[in-house]
Amino acid sequence: MQPLIRFTIITLFPEALRPYLDSSMLFKAQDRGIIKIDYVNLRDFGLGPHRSVDDTPYGGGDGMLLRCEPVFAAVESIKAADPTAEVILPTPVGQVWNQDLARAFAARATSVSQPASADQPTAPTLHFIILCPHYEGYDQRILTLVDHAISLGHYVLTGGELPALIIIDSITRLLPGVLGGATSAAIESFSDGDNLEYPQYTKPADFRGLKVPDVLLSGDHGKIAAWRAAHSTRAE
Ligand code: ADE
Repeated sequence: MQPLIRFTIITLFPEALRPYLDSSMLFKAQDRGIIKIDYVNLRDFGLGPHRSVDDTPYGGGDGMLLRCEPVFAAVESIKAADPTAEVILPTPVGQVWNQDLARAFAARATSVSQPASADQPTAPTLHFIILCPHYEGYDQRILTLVDHAISLGHYVLTGGELPALIIIDSITRLLPGVLGGATSAAIESFSDGDNLEYPQYTKPADFRGLKVPDVLLSGDHGKIAAWRAAHSTRAE
């Protein structure tokens, strides 16, 4: 089986990403072949003996900017092997990431990978290149490479690595086969339910006087469903 999504992360700090991506559900998603993650070290495309990837801004100002040449070379090397790959740029001025966007990306992955009929070849895996900027920013011309400029929210981080982790995590958990019991390829049907958050409890039924609502102990599935619906809020 080919993976549903390939993520190729262009970063100066692959060692910061690996421990998270190689743990827990994201490890399982890779181990089960549902996603594939590759790392490209931007330093390998750096200029000169120091493999430099940044420089000072024209017009003056503090800090260093990612320069075009290494970024273009890195993206072009990946696209040479897969021209369908789409570039995601984490940036504080991008479209703000939310559950609807994560669901739309996951749904695209499941729909392109389902052959319409047995004799029709499976469409190629969805492939996202996530370009992690660092330093104080990037040369504006880098945006010409970008298909999806994504902001994690109205605050500024030191780099694109945390956004890359969040984007990969929030898409991957929606893919069929990643979460326990969610084996359906019909992404919409389970992500609707997934979007409903209601209070949940596990044993013990009484913890230091904090009691689990009686209805949840009643065994009456109709009443439990009604209670959960009444106490649900959207995850967004
Ligand atoms: N890079 C720096 N800050 C960011 C943010 N809030 N979202 C995405 N990328 C960023």
